[in-house]
Amino acid sequence: MSWTIPDITLNSGNKIPILAFGTAAPFFGTDCSQYISQALRAGIRHFDTAQLYSNQESVGKALHQWEGNRQDVYITAKWGLEGDVENDPKSALEETLRLMETDYVDMFLMHSPITLSSLSMKKAWAMMEQLKDQGKCKDIGVSNFGSLDIKRLSEAWKVVPAMNQIEYSPYNSHDSRSIAAVQICKDHGIAISGFGCLQPLSLKNEPHPLLSVLAEVSERLNLNEGQILLKWAQQSIGGPVVTITDKTDRMLEDIHAFQQQPALSDSVMDQITKAGRGRYYRGYLDPFRP
Ligand SMILES: NC(=O)c1ccc[n+]([C@@H]2O[C@H](COP(=O)([O-])OP(=O)(O)OC[C@H]3O[C@@H](n4cnc5c(N)ncnc54)[C@H](OP(=O)(O)O)[C@@H]3O)[C@@H](O)[C@H]2O)c1
Repeated sequence: MSWTIPDITLNSGNKIPILAFGTAAPFFGTDCSQYISQALRAGIRHFDTAQLYSNQESVGKALHQWEGNRQDVYITAKWGLEGDVENDPKSALEETLRLMETDYVDMFLMHSPITLSSLSMKKAWAMMEQLKDQGKCKDIGVSNFGSLDIKRLSEAWKVVPAMNQIEYSPYNSHDSRSIAAVQICKDHGIAISGFGCLQPLSLKNEPHPLLSVLAEVSERLNLNEGQILLKWAQQSIGGPVVTITDKTDRMLEDIHAFQQQPALSDSVMDQITKAGRGRYYRGYLDPFRP
């Protein structure tokens, strides 16, 4: 395995690169292989995909055209969420592997608990444990799980999830539900991965507490606001952050932020965290379950 972006070690002992390239909006249901290829050329090696995004074949296509090795790329896949997706991780993963033309994914996540009863969640997890045993996924994890969901799953798990992927930005990290989710994950050694880390940038047309702080830090550190928010989220949660762009320049800037730039100092981290407490905002799944 060779990727130049830093990684962390999961509770399974496997490593995961801390920067992931997403494939959801604006790529939903479209062939986004050209962007995955661009990201591969730029140096990104971790791709975040899902059954729900209806474009998993784009990963297979981009990998096929790439000259590198499959084992040098980290793939996160997810099953479920919509009412029309069966609660069946086994057939979902088999379909994913077929579409991606690969034998395994590195991380296989339950996309969300909200469409699952407690019983179906536990049954699904048992199936995911089997899929890991069979080597069809190297690790299994969850996404959008609040603390009560993790507690419920813990009554049945044999394998502790390796990861919980949740929305994380300075505008929701102070929410009691985020705090509880992060704490229970820490207690069980579950890595947190963040998406929606750049959501504060979508508020740029209105006054909000982070505006002046990001502008000041950006000028002082010579980093753009996206790079600062991604680094803030990654350093806050310790796990990978997922982002998306259709611009090669931004891919390179994001890589640069993690490959070349030092960590944000404690005082910059505090400055952003404190400003973030001045507003609550979540771009996805609100209300996030406690
Ligand atoms: N597990 C889940 O339920 C879940 C939910 C949502 C998302 N995700 C995953 O996370 C991925 C990322 O989605 P996200 O919503 O979290 O994206 P995000 O990284 O928070 O935001 C991406 C948006 O920010 C813009 N952007 C990037 N850098 C910027 C900068 N320096 N200044 C201003 N704007 C900038 C991009 O615009 P440009 O395109 O113009 O660069 C893009 O529109 C998804 O593709 C998906 O894989 C998972």
